[in-house]
Amino acid sequence: MTKFKDWLVAGAVLLLSKTHPSRRDDEQRIVPDAPPDPRAETWVLALFGLASLAAVGFIVVYALDRLSHQTQWLGVTLGLALAFLAAACTVIGKRLVATEELAEDYPQPDDHVGDQEAVVEIVEESGDRLSRKRLLKLGGAAAGGSLGLALLTPAVSLGPVFDMSRFYGTPWTRGRRLVDERGRPYRADGIEEAVFYTAYPEGADRETIGAPVLVVRLKPAALHLGSHKPVAEWAPQGILAYSKICTHAGCAIALYRKPTFPVTEPRPAFVCPCHYSTFDPATGGTVLFGPAGRPLPQLPLLVDPRGQLRARGNFDQPVGPSWWGVRMEKPNP
Ligand code: FES
Repeated sequence: MTKFKDWLVAGAVLLLSKTHPSRRDDEQRIVPDAPPDPRAETWVLALFGLASLAAVGFIVVYALDRLSHQTQWLGVTLGLALAFLAAACTVIGKRLVATEELAEDYPQPDDHVGDQEAVVEIVEESGDRLSRKRLLKLGGAAAGGSLGLALLTPAVSLGPVFDMSRFYGTPWTRGRRLVDERGRPYRADGIEEAVFYTAYPEGADRETIGAPVLVVRLKPAALHLGSHKPVAEWAPQGILAYSKICTHAGCAIALYRKPTFPVTEPRPAFVCPCHYSTFDPATGGTVLFGPAGRPLPQLPLLVDPRGQLRARGNFDQPVGPSWWGVRMEKPNP
């Protein structure tokens, strides 16, 4: 309790006390002497305070992430923080520090030594009239610091740096059936060539980024999945499943290039309509064209005794747009 009282007293002293600036003799001064301007100082402090509040408001709005008109609130709070800070700087420039414009010839290099000392003196003398220097410095630091924090806050949306395990989780587990929009299971013999289907994990939330998959059938002879992906596990009967979410910026892939014009489009391909990233289902979803930086994640499949399509496990790599370290770990099987 005593400590708290000490803090209160210290804060009040800091807020209310005024120092009497030490002044140099008039004859020695470069900057003409001027009386303190407490009203301008109070304005500056108030504007710093408002800038800090607005910047903290931006952080709070960003963190809550559930206000209606979220974007507008973000714009208003950040705009106000910048406006208050600019207003504070304007008051300082106009009312609290000496300003003068001098037209002079560009100095020779040798002239600089004396000039540098004069500049230091001008800077020191310009602040002489401030009666609450410490408090103004604190206010400026608070406004600048909170605005800096507000500007850094959106970086949080780039994703976690340490714990990325939730990025690897999807609803796909071994044995989960692939169903259509109305929940009807897909049968292997119902999957035709030249058509692509969108499938979902049975009984799971379809809104999660890892839920929707593209299903196509290709001729087994056309597949080149690599030795680490046996066709029986990754493409039974030539049926393949890939994440529907583009690895570039996360759009839903909605185009299937099939049938093709043989000269310019030799193979069927998935095409993302956003920036035209093009993925080859025959080679494990590798990128044929466009800005995507990694293949489409593939889902291993099995055909159960009733002829229905089921997941054999999780995707072979993380789903969705890339993030820092995306290639460093694999999803749990
Ligand atoms: S989001 Fe698919 S190409 Fe950009």
